[in-house]
Parts: sequence; structure tokens; C-alpha cells
Amino acid sequence: MATATPAKRDDSRASIAKPSAEAESSVPSIMVDAPSRREFLYYIWGASIVLLLGEVTAGLLWFAYPRFREGEFGGVFPFNPADIPSTTAPPEWIAGGRFHVSNTEDGLLALYGVCTHLGCLPKWSTTNSRFECPCHGSKFEGDGAYIEGPAPRGLDRFPVTVTYSDGTSVDTPEDGGPLRIDPSRTIASIGIDTGSRITGPSA
Ligand code: FES
Repeated sequence: MATATPAKRDDSRASIAKPSAEAESSVPSIMVDAPSRREFLYYIWGASIVLLLGEVTAGLLWFAYPRFREGEFGGVFPFNPADIPSTTAPPEWIAGGRFHVSNTEDGLLALYGVCTHLGCLPKWSTTNSRFECPCHGSKFEGDGAYIEGPAPRGLDRFPVTVTYSDGTSVDTPEDGGPLRIDPSRTIASIGIDTGSRITGPSA
């Protein structure tokens, strides 16, 4: 009777699948744990909150930021180049924009019509060729410069932009001084920005 030969045990697989502890510690760990389902939901939730806050902030800024139409005080006023007064004529009062357009020997100015003392409205005196405030007597030159009275400085002014027919433009200097216009060129448009007041020259 033949006897069955016992199967020879193969340990080779076990020796391959099981690296030594020393080998394990020498292999750098490059695997990053994937986020769990809970962590993933947290990320989505956080991103949604940030997005929502961004939208709410943008909406608030949109409503809070003042917006003015053209020709509305606080916005840009178009001024007809044909209406520029001559250098010897009285300044042109633009009631809607609350400014005088004054054309001096040195250039064009848009003078804010409110007195720098306590806010009355100085009027142009044709007799004396100057602005005179009816409240406390401050007086200003045709270019807004301070002459006398309790006002702390000359009249404030608004920036003027003159655009020529070739598309180029010139702006009021940063200090609010007169804007020189080239008389040999054709003016296409003039804009006066009542949203950016420049402090008048000191007394
Ligand atoms: Fe013009 Fe006082 S408000 S001088």
C-alpha cells in the first residue's frame, strides 16, 4: 500500500510579503491619508461659508458705495466748451453742480461755490470783480484765492478734464491750480468731477 507523501510546505510567499522591521523603518513614508467622509463634508461646509460671506460683503459694498449719474452733484458734470467765459467775463455759475467756472489768464478753474468759513455761498461782485461772502464778509479772487475775512483758505475746487478732438486730454494739476487750455486746438468735451474736491490754497 502506497503511502501519501506529505505536501511540502512553501514558505517563500510569507518571506516575501513580510519585510523585516529594519527594512520597514528605512522606507520613507510617502502615503497621505485620504480625507475621511466627515472631513470632506467639513471642507465643503467651510468653503460654502466663505463663499456666502464673500457674496454678502460684495452686496453690502455695492449698496453702500455712492453712485452718481453724469450731471448729478457728486458725479462728473459735462460742461459745454462753447460756454467757457472769456478771461474778462464773470465766472459762470452752475447751480446743479454748485461750482463756478472761472477762466483766468492762467487757465480754467471749477471753484466750489461754498465758502470755506462756515458754508455760505459767496456771490460774484461785478463791481469789485471778486467773490464776496454775504455771511461774514470773506472775499476771494476770481481764481478762488483768499483775499480777506474769517475764511481759513481760498475756495475749494473740482478737477477739470478737457478732451481735445484728437482724443488727448489734460487735467487740472494735483494742487488744484488753473488748467491751461491750448487755444489752437478744438475742444471735444469738458468734464468737471464734483466727486473729488481739492482743498483751496491756504490764506
Ligand atoms: Fe463765508 Fe463766514 S461763511 S465768511
